[in-house]
Amino acid sequence: MTNRIAQSRTIWLNAPMSSIRWQEIAQRFSIPEGVAYLNNGSFGPVPTEAIETTVELFRTLESNPQEYLGVYRGRTAVVKDALGGFVGMKPDDFVFVTNVTVGMNMVAAGLRTLSSGDQIVTTDQEYGAVENAWRFASRRRGVEIVRVELPAPADTPRQLYDAVVDAFTARTKVVYMSHITSQTGVILPVKAICEEARRRGILTAIDGAHAPGMIPLDIESLGCDFYVGNCHKWLCAPKGVGFMWASAEAQALLDPLIVGWGWVEDDETFLGNFENPGTHNPTLYLAVEKCIELQNTIGREAVAARGRELAAYARERILAIPGAKPRTPPTADLSNSIQAYTLPLVADFDFQAALRERRIVAILGPDKEHVRLRVSTHIHNSTEHLDRLVDLLREAYGR
Ligand SMILES: Cc1ncc(COP(=O)(O)O)c(C=O)c1O
Repeated sequence: MTNRIAQSRTIWLNAPMSSIRWQEIAQRFSIPEGVAYLNNGSFGPVPTEAIETTVELFRTLESNPQEYLGVYRGRTAVVKDALGGFVGMKPDDFVFVTNVTVGMNMVAAGLRTLSSGDQIVTTDQEYGAVENAWRFASRRRGVEIVRVELPAPADTPRQLYDAVVDAFTARTKVVYMSHITSQTGVILPVKAICEEARRRGILTAIDGAHAPGMIPLDIESLGCDFYVGNCHKWLCAPKGVGFMWASAEAQALLDPLIVGWGWVEDDETFLGNFENPGTHNPTLYLAVEKCIELQNTIGREAVAARGRELAAYARERILAIPGAKPRTPPTADLSNSIQAYTLPLVADFDFQAALRERRIVAILGPDKEHVRLRVSTHIHNSTEHLDRLVDLLREAYGR
């Protein structure tokens, strides 16, 4: 195994306060002042300027769809350059898709190399819809899915690496996993796992729903075969913008999920097979440029550092609630802007009503054994938003 993991330095989440005026950044979003929006992990709010750009482009498009659909096709190429530059992809190696669910279906259903008796390795922290895409594709072909248990919280990247790689067998043909998981926000050591998988001839498909716009990202350098990402979470793009990237070698392994004008018999290309699934609204993709601009004015490192700063602030206060336990590791190599916790079950407290009343948006509520909490903050949040959540918890737990 690479010793990259062993050498990684421990950096704690609470990076030093940056000098950026976060209140001014918050004003560039249209979340009402009274709302504490702590669920960026589900849907990122779109900056006002990007909303206005989309609306303007839409208005223009509908003034002459025949003409502007052509014009916008040309502009999509410019946005592909911008997005590719931001997350490390060559424009010819990725296509816009509606979301990660669609993009992962393209990979799971399209892979020509899977056949009966093969194995797919994945983790127990994958997103349900993506899990379904792989289960469906596997059932059709008689492929077995092996789901490994990840420690939550993990102490080191090595533990996560071992959990996945120890499950590889001679029958393993694909490993699919999140870059940053939805349930606990843990960052998996994808680069090291992909390196080992490639060494053994196993294909890798990464669910990057959460990495673009949360942490600095260079997809090409991860060494994976497929990377499917969302722009409508941490890049704060309009809903319905994601991408599917495939390495130059892996592109040839995929059949198209939807066959349209771009497919040419005996002369198939990756872009031809995947880029144009019929008439769609390109204004959503074009708004991504504005979202990237906003992140670039702050700086990718500063965006990530702010996520860690707010995560550390919340963590200290939430863990002071009796019985609260972290599900997310506290170091910067293992987590950033998503933090998950369990709390004891508490009778006679309606968490949903309390969230609504206080205008807090977060994942918080009981399951069979615990109360589960997931806090995901971004550049529009302040410590005051987190204080309001902590006050709610103190009320629920009588502190
Ligand atoms: C890890 C992960 N993968 C995939 C998805 C699905 O994203 P979408 O609904 O945009 O397809 C999510 C959504 O929260 C997610 O957290």
